[in-house]
Amino acid sequence: MRLPKEFLIGASTAAHQVEGNNIHSDYWMMEQLEGTSFKERSGIAVDHYNRFKQDIQFMAELGLNAYRFSIEWARIEPEEGRFDEKEVAHYHNVLQACHDNGITPIVTLHHFTSPQWLITAGGWRSSETPARFAKYCEFIMSELGELIPYVCTINEANMPLALTKIMKKYQASSGVAQIGINTEVQRNREKYKAQMAEAFRISADEVHVFLSPMTSADIGLIFQAHTEARQAIRRVSPSTKVGITLSLYDIQALPGGEALAEEAMHEEFLQFLPYLTEDDFFGLQNYTRMIYGPDGPLAVPESAEKTQMGNEYYPQALEAVIRYASKHLSIPIIVTENGVATDQDERRIAFIDTALHGIQACLDEGIQVLGYMHWSLLDNFEWQLGYSKRFGLIEVNWETQERIPKPSAYHLGSIAKQIQ
Ligand code: BGC
Repeated sequence: MRLPKEFLIGASTAAHQVEGNNIHSDYWMMEQLEGTSFKERSGIAVDHYNRFKQDIQFMAELGLNAYRFSIEWARIEPEEGRFDEKEVAHYHNVLQACHDNGITPIVTLHHFTSPQWLITAGGWRSSETPARFAKYCEFIMSELGELIPYVCTINEANMPLALTKIMKKYQASSGVAQIGINTEVQRNREKYKAQMAEAFRISADEVHVFLSPMTSADIGLIFQAHTEARQAIRRVSPSTKVGITLSLYDIQALPGGEALAEEAMHEEFLQFLPYLTEDDFFGLQNYTRMIYGPDGPLAVPESAEKTQMGNEYYPQALEAVIRYASKHLSIPIIVTENGVATDQDERRIAFIDTALHGIQACLDEGIQVLGYMHWSLLDNFEWQLGYSKRFGLIEVNWETQERIPKPSAYHLGSIAKQIQ
């Protein structure tokens, strides 16, 4: 491979999935309730909050040169307007560890979880949320911006709409989601709702976390939050490059499915273009493809190789999605997530190779791709599905928290070493 000298190769994590003890967040709260749809609690996760130094140092030893991680809003602002300097210092140390190890940090300011107080205040349906989010972003970037070359405001801002669609479909049939949601029939539903109302001090129907079912108007608020955050970040940290991330399927059509495929592309990506054009980069996240026939998206065929998530194993999707996105955007792309849940690490290695060859082909044609962040650095907490899905380059012994690098970690590292 002839990846450019400054190409970023690394891995991604998200605070709630790896840090542990994210006690002020909405997801933490929901995990504790009886009848919760979370199969397990996040607990201490993989204790990355305490082990970040070793983890980052190990990334550098592998040869990786970039790390995408998220800052947890609920830690920084556990009560509205009260910013916790201790937690700011923590993330300062994480950023410093990156710089000390020659690792470029790519920071996400919101990765699905929000402070509990935000939900009580109306959550992701309140017209005040964009301003509240921008205030947090302004605070953190004025404190730490100098250490942050790239920032993603919101992770997968299009995911709430996608999940809403999937949940509707589930009510009628069954299917698979790209991220870990527990779609089994929920027992104790009423009990759960009552507890939720008590926990957030509002009625259960008013609880709107980031991944709650949403309307198009609600999704508008999320992108407004991005726009306001971008302005705030540029004010206080003008040298930081700002972007957002979206989750994109490689949408393909069989004869007769073209119109539905186009509609799906509009829903997942094209409708958001006006919010992206002023960004400095686009954070592209891709895991698989989705094929549309005349009656809609097709189920993954029995004969296809599947990941632990039930998705089709299809690493070729990344190249197609980069080409597609680049036709509509003139800003550079960073692949902020791409990966596979599997116990067969040799399939992860093959996945990485296909993905990177796809990127190489795009670069050869002059498409600007700045980096590739593999999901994920460590096996971690896959949301409602708990710890059962193995996306990591590094295995974690849940009892001892010992890190056991998989061959794929060395493989990705060796590719990164070649370009340095
Ligand atoms: C999310 C991650 C998640 C991954 C795998 C992405 O959509 O950003 O948080 O773990 O998919 O499902």
